[in-house]
Amino acid sequence: MKKIVAGNWKMHGDAAMAEEMVEAVTAVAADLPGHVEVILCPPAPLLLLAAAMIEEPNVKVGGQDCHSLPEGAFTGDISAGLLAEAGAEYVIVGHSERRQGHSESSDLVRKKAARAIRTGLIPIICVGETATDRDSRQAEEVVGAQVRDSLPEEAREGNFLIAYEPVWAIGTGRTPTSDDIRKMHAYILSVTTKRSGLAPEQVFVLYGGSVKGDNAGEIMAIEGVSGVLVGGASLKVDEFCRIMQAA
Ligand code: PGA
Repeated sequence: MKKIVAGNWKMHGDAAMAEEMVEAVTAVAADLPGHVEVILCPPAPLLLLAAAMIEEPNVKVGGQDCHSLPEGAFTGDISAGLLAEAGAEYVIVGHSERRQGHSESSDLVRKKAARAIRTGLIPIICVGETATDRDSRQAEEVVGAQVRDSLPEEAREGNFLIAYEPVWAIGTGRTPTSDDIRKMHAYILSVTTKRSGLAPEQVFVLYGGSVKGDNAGEIMAIEGVSGVLVGGASLKVDEFCRIMQAA
């Protein structure tokens, strides 16, 4: 079963770090078993540099967001087409930092995911509940609605990924219990298969939120977890390589 290790650098890093990271990651990736795929999502200006350095077929690059339209007067936005031209094969959409910090609705996230698919990129569609949602026992309801509303009609086997990232686990060092992760992934799978008509084994759901070298192996062994989306630990070469080796 395929395992995906994706690194989301957010607004961190520079060209020197990109070179160092790509060199280390590709060296480790050369010895990884065939079922492991690594995705690096640096800030957009570093995509070309990173993509040009990568020769291993199991290491890809991705953007962190794209616009829902192919082009236009949208100052500061990035089109899916340009991400693809820069070498990206993936793009994160609907990360909680965009849903919260940029008021992105699931409706917009769905349009971005649809644009990505039509452009030949694989969207990594992020969903996840806040601490308040979980405390009020509404985690499934909130995540279920996000999945239903963010999943585009174009969703087919292999052309999208979902990432379950509880907002309260991002950058906090706190993670849900293995049982909570297993239950939520099963729930996301059921909502996604119902919505898309796909079979469970055709849908890949990553877990994200405080994944580290120490917990990556345990998390990736949980039933229904097809890989991890890593933030903070993806900025540290040794830590990220340990996560890759745990896959
Ligand atoms: P974290 O971030 O690994 O630093 O918790 C995960 C993410 O935001 O994708």
